[in-house]
Amino acid sequence: MVRCRKFSISVIALLALFTIKIFIDLNYPPLLSSDPPSVSPEPEKNPLPMLESLQDDEVSAMTALQSLAQNLRKLVPPAGAFWNIEQLQLLDLKKPWAWTCSKSTTQIKRAESYPELLLSFVSQDHCRNHRLIINQPDKCPVNRTFLLLAIKSSPQNFAQRQAVRDTWGAEKNYEGKYVRLVFLLGTVPTLDLSPLLGYENSRSHDLLQWDFADTFLNLTLKDQLFLGWAKTYCARATYILKGDDDVFVRTPNIVRVLSSLGSHRHRTLYMGHVVKLAKPYRDPHSKYYIPTSFYLGMYPPYAGGGGYLFSGSLTPWLYLVSHFVFPYPIDDVYTGMCFMALGVKPVGHPGFKTFSMPREKSSSCSEKSLLLVHQKSPREILKMWGEDFENTNQQC
Ligand SMILES: *[C@@H]1O[C@H](CO)[C@@H](O)[C@H](O)[C@H]1NC(C)=O
Ligand SMILES: *[C@@H]1O[C@H](CO)[C@@H](O)[C@H](O)[C@H]1NC(C)=O
Repeated sequence: MVRCRKFSISVIALLALFTIKIFIDLNYPPLLSSDPPSVSPEPEKNPLPMLESLQDDEVSAMTALQSLAQNLRKLVPPAGAFWNIEQLQLLDLKKPWAWTCSKSTTQIKRAESYPELLLSFVSQDHCRNHRLIINQPDKCPVNRTFLLLAIKSSPQNFAQRQAVRDTWGAEKNYEGKYVRLVFLLGTVPTLDLSPLLGYENSRSHDLLQWDFADTFLNLTLKDQLFLGWAKTYCARATYILKGDDDVFVRTPNIVRVLSSLGSHRHRTLYMGHVVKLAKPYRDPHSKYYIPTSFYLGMYPPYAGGGGYLFSGSLTPWLYLVSHFVFPYPIDDVYTGMCFMALGVKPVGHPGFKTFSMPREKSSSCSEKSLLLVHQKSPREILKMWGEDFENTNQQC
């Protein structure tokens, strides 16, 4: 009898505790943990069930991807703008387009309203077969690469590259996890920098250079060529960080955040500072100006191009699906379109500051959760790295 009463008291107590817990769960949002900030919920399902079949059979992978790319129809209104027409035609093709330099471009309406650079983009938008001038075929093979840093640089940015190498971009192993570095370059048509670049590369072995003009509107081309390279020479990298040469990155913290991700996340990651519900800039004076006759519609959610992370296992998929996505002159928007075509959504992380940030706030110790910050000079990069180094003892 006594035992029975004890038992029911415990049951009642348990029930009460349980009710209180439900009440708390329902009424209080989870507290924000300061470090490392957690990422948003896992995607509902793996969007790429046929991931394994890719290497064996590229033709059937292409067919599968073509139907997957129909995801883009959600983005593209069937309007009369140049890009929209080209993209919808691409989705209707029976076979993927070859993307060699031979095709003459479609007539553009009101071409006279285009900035000169955009016209030159349109005249070259079918070319993707540019030659690799400097390669790093042995970058990845030995000791699986955990994180490949793929940094967009311009040939003349010698000081930026050296600052990156000397600090956050140094190739080393963080507790058995190998970090490797490549810089992605085009050419400067008016300047022969090949002796200098050759010398630089003989010491650092981290330059990739293709034979195309390294301009702002050719960054999408750089993205596409890099995907082709990574698919061939670094297909087993677990993660890739794509960024500019003027970002400061807390590489040890990135490695830590990536190491803590669950296994389903680790194959379909696309993470950074996510831009949602963005629209083209319609101001003709903006660097990002897009005329209405060129593109109509919204942009897909995308990660700011200053720096973002994605799973290495997605590279071959991104490379293939980029054959079904018409080139767009703004590279991070284009990348967002390719991920959208694959059905992979970007996840935000508060540690990525790829848009402007007050200077004083970006000093290293004041922002513990900072992973990546944009627009830093080589001097600032060296200073921030030094501060981090000094502060490791203080758990900064
Ligand atoms: C690969 O790993 C081994 C053992 O950890 C190490 O001795 C070697 O230097 C590494 N090779 C490269 C190229 O990093
Ligand atoms: C991109 O590179 C190609 C090849 O060098 C060049 O002809 C073209 O003008 C460049 N496009 C832009 C928009 O700068």
